[in-house]
Amino acid sequence: MLKLIVAYDKNMLIGSGNKMPWYFIDELKHFKSEIKNQILVVGENTFYSFKKIPNEKIILLSNNKSLLNKYKNLEIETDIEKIVNRSKNEDIIVLGGRNVYLQFLPFVDLMIISIIEKEFKGDVYFPKWDNNDFLLIKTKKINTFINAYYFKRK
Ligand SMILES: NC(=O)c1ccc[n+]([C@@H]2O[C@H](COP(=O)([O-])OP(=O)(O)OC[C@H]3O[C@@H](n4cnc5c(N)ncnc54)[C@H](OP(=O)(O)O)[C@@H]3O)[C@@H](O)[C@H]2O)c1
Repeated sequence: MLKLIVAYDKNMLIGSGNKMPWYFIDELKHFKSEIKNQILVVGENTFYSFKKIPNEKIILLSNNKSLLNKYKNLEIETDIEKIVNRSKNEDIIVLGGRNVYLQFLPFVDLMIISIIEKEFKGDVYFPKWDNNDFLLIKTKKINTFINAYYFKRK
């Protein structure tokens, strides 16, 4: 299955100066539990924004192979079709950022969205998406955010 996880505010803001615009411990816990033991797909900017590199297997979308020697859990890829095909046999979760979300949105089976019900300042937004293409299967209010699961309509 191909999943996508994102946290956005009321205006679908996701980033500010190549960082997250907010820090909410409960949202971070939720993020960590959702990505646990999955294969992660991440863009180069987001990879560099990590304070701590996750221990999970990571597919980094990049043309820069030099990072391969630095991290044992890293694969470098440029071909998103290969990743989409691989997700037919393994659970893969797309972590962003915007550039990467844009490439994978047409192919994702499940979106896990944290909606932060506030307005923040920043410079990167989640791409516009059509909620007619998805079926909302679950929502849960957790202190600072609403957690929503959307399955792609077949
Ligand atoms: N709120 C959230 O849930 C969330 C989640 C993730 C990220 N973010 C935020 O999003 C922002 C970063 O997003 P972004 O759009 O600037 O960057 P990004 O998607 O993290 O990375 C984009 C870069 O990755 C490389 N790349 C992407 N696709 C590729 C491909 N198919 N082949 C080769 N290289 C590829 C390219 O690097 P080159 O241009 O060097 O080739 C591209 O510029 C940050 O502010 C981050 O904090 C927020």
